[in-house]
Amino acid sequence: MTRKRILLTRRWPEAVETRLASSYDATLNPEDRPMNVEEIGRALRDYDAVCPTVSDKLPAEIFSAPPQTKILANFGVGVNHIDLPAAAAAGITVTNTPGVLTDCTADLAIALMLMLARRLKEGERELRAGTWAGWRPTHLMGMCLRGKTLGIIGMGRIGQATARRAQMAFGMDIVYYNRTPMPDARLADLKAHALPTVDAVIEQADFVSLHCPGGGENRHLIDARRIGLFGPKTFLINTARGDVVDETALRAALRQGALGGAGLDVFEREPHVPDDLIAFPNVVLLPHLGSATRETREAMGMMAADNLDAFFAGTAPPNRI
Ligand code: DGY
Repeated sequence: MTRKRILLTRRWPEAVETRLASSYDATLNPEDRPMNVEEIGRALRDYDAVCPTVSDKLPAEIFSAPPQTKILANFGVGVNHIDLPAAAAAGITVTNTPGVLTDCTADLAIALMLMLARRLKEGERELRAGTWAGWRPTHLMGMCLRGKTLGIIGMGRIGQATARRAQMAFGMDIVYYNRTPMPDARLADLKAHALPTVDAVIEQADFVSLHCPGGGENRHLIDARRIGLFGPKTFLINTARGDVVDETALRAALRQGALGGAGLDVFEREPHVPDDLIAFPNVVLLPHLGSATRETREAMGMMAADNLDAFFAGTAPPNRI
């Protein structure tokens, strides 16, 4: 039987590439060169499966010509870079990799909170610049997490994992907003207080951490009006998707000192990051590292491979969107 032709749009962890190359006629991307929309559109006509990542764009127009591709096995949980209705209309199955990056992403949200609360970036910069004048009682005083309130927007797997860490390890109080009510059993081990609106969470929280999907109605969920609800001591943490926050409004608010600061792992136009965001001392910026551990990236790739294997074996892929 001829082997199915699959394309990985980026370089994947070696163990996963080895596995895929042993079962498929796999085109890899050893130089890890990003592919543009036209190239991915062409690939849909040439390959039985295309395996994209969040760094790719798959808008509606590339699905208009009849595709050879039957499955998009996405490397990652978020799929807002794929026009899902257009893919469905073209008869293409889409799968993702949920669950395996939950802990890793929650760890990163906590890391961003700690960096802001304890002013770690400012301290490290000062030391590297050679301007540290030594210990003194009033030097770079931050704040404790214990007793502060964490507001979670989107209480899915990653939101819950972040809340658990914040409450159990750091003694924070948790409030949250979730679009659909959460079954009590899922949060049984947490003392988390559901609030009826995003606004109510922002108004009560010292840290607002975003854990909802990007795209659609979540685009600019945190807009100028909602940023206006942040107090000068409230911090925004975004490890979800850049487009959930109106970056222009956020920059304006930061210039006015209208919020305490921001910890951002995702941006509206990745990999572009506006210069003024880089300059704010009370903003911590990371290059979309939420799932970036060896263990997690390998697990994500293996899960995408499981989805492909099931699909081509004629069974339901475990993580179909
Ligand atoms: C995802 O899986 O959606 C992440 O953002 C990539 O790590």
